[in-house]
Amino acid sequence: MREYWIKDRSLAERGRKRIAWSETQMPVLVEIRRRFSKEKPLRNIRVGACLHITTDTGVLMKTLAAGGAELYLCASNPLSTQDDVAAALVEEGVHVYAFRGQSEEEYYRCLGYVIASKPMITMDDGADLISTIHKLRYGIRTRELDYFKDIVNGMDFEELVNGIVGGSEETTTGVIRLKALAREKKLLYPVIAVNDAESKRLFDNPIGTGQSALDGIVRATNTLLAGRDAVVVGFGNVGSGIAYRLRGMGARVTVVEVDPIKALKAVMDGFNVEPMSKAARHGDLFITATGNINVIRREHFEAMRDGAILANAGHFNVEISVRDLEEISIRKERISDCIMRYVLRDGRKLYLLAEGRLVNLACAEGHPSEVMDMSFSLQALSARYLVENRGKLPRDVLRVPEEIDREVASLKLEAMGIEVERLTDEQKRYLSSWTLGT
Ligand SMILES: NC(=O)c1ccc[n+]([C@@H]2O[C@H](COP(=O)([O-])OP(=O)(O)OC[C@H]3O[C@@H](n4cnc5c(N)ncnc54)[C@H](O)[C@@H]3O)[C@@H](O)[C@H]2O)c1
Repeated sequence: MREYWIKDRSLAERGRKRIAWSETQMPVLVEIRRRFSKEKPLRNIRVGACLHITTDTGVLMKTLAAGGAELYLCASNPLSTQDDVAAALVEEGVHVYAFRGQSEEEYYRCLGYVIASKPMITMDDGADLISTIHKLRYGIRTRELDYFKDIVNGMDFEELVNGIVGGSEETTTGVIRLKALAREKKLLYPVIAVNDAESKRLFDNPIGTGQSALDGIVRATNTLLAGRDAVVVGFGNVGSGIAYRLRGMGARVTVVEVDPIKALKAVMDGFNVEPMSKAARHGDLFITATGNINVIRREHFEAMRDGAILANAGHFNVEISVRDLEEISIRKERISDCIMRYVLRDGRKLYLLAEGRLVNLACAEGHPSEVMDMSFSLQALSARYLVENRGKLPRDVLRVPEEIDREVASLKLEAMGIEVERLTDEQKRYLSSWTLGT
């Protein structure tokens, strides 16, 4: 089997320096690495990871390696790989199968290599690795599996699954897919929903994506956000973070939501709330963050103003219907790496960023490392937890244990030099009593 498959090994030095910079912003993960180097909790464990290959992922890989793991890494998106980071990780001994701008076939062949390594822990961002393993085990034939059948030829998939201790999932969309698998009672091993930990979803999703999605849009277009008529589709953890930051930059923000509670929250926070059919008519910048399919589609494109910019921050490239856009356009022209201009029959032009893929990872560098410090510390500690509890956990989607969640938050505060208040014994008694009143 190939040892690695990357774009250019000579980029390693640049990648190494950029990973080192991220390390300076990731004190919690560096502290965990220090502990892992001594304790070797992942000795003899093969980790198969399908993650965005950014500098932060570089720091995570070095941490897992310090814990004794053998690492096989592919990308969780064809456009998010930073080729210099991939090269630097190969120098560190990680088996990397990823490069920016993969075709669908190349993307799945890379997944095939990770599966062929017979991982004992799977680490996903979007659940492509784990769902592919499940399809192989259940004998579900899809076009994607055909792309790499020569790589996994002769493998016993039952044996593969039996050797897997557990998995972890980084993002909302992945957790949704895993819960569907568990609901059908088909999930074959325990998976920790890192996304749902408080020290992840309250920070990474709104603050990390909130900032980096705007970073991606600004880098791609150099557009002024102040005064813009911006429409954010989805007011969940990610969308709300984007909406607040857009407002902070002076944009006039409309929110599109299906959930009445989230919509009410947006109204009470002072946002304009409308259905997509109305927002489509006036917006000049649209950002989707729903984890759902075709939330901007033909009827909306047809109502849009000339010059509207379209970007997606949700996990998959399904939120903005690129197919509809292609169908109603008479031609498309690439303006830059990140911008595609679609010319409609009546001459109106719409600008799609990053082919509808995650704008923060495809047009910028993804989340700032400070926030990935927490998400990836949870990943590292969850891997240790899976190994420590091998054979004892149910085949279900599991929460990150509360002590791990709180430990990560405490370590982060400590690293920031911030002290928190402590409960007195009297207060603890009061909070645990039902007899004490006024
Ligand atoms: N870009 C990144 O780096 C990054 C980081 C974290 C999460 N994500 C992804 O972003 C997406 C959203 O994640 P989240 O944590 O905010 O999820 P969430 O569940 O908190 O929020 C999604 C929101 O979208 C709403 N929604 C669903 N369908 C809709 C529709 N048709 N129109 C309007 N609103 C609709 C839901 O009601 C919900 O409020 C997921 O795909 C997730 O994996 C991306």
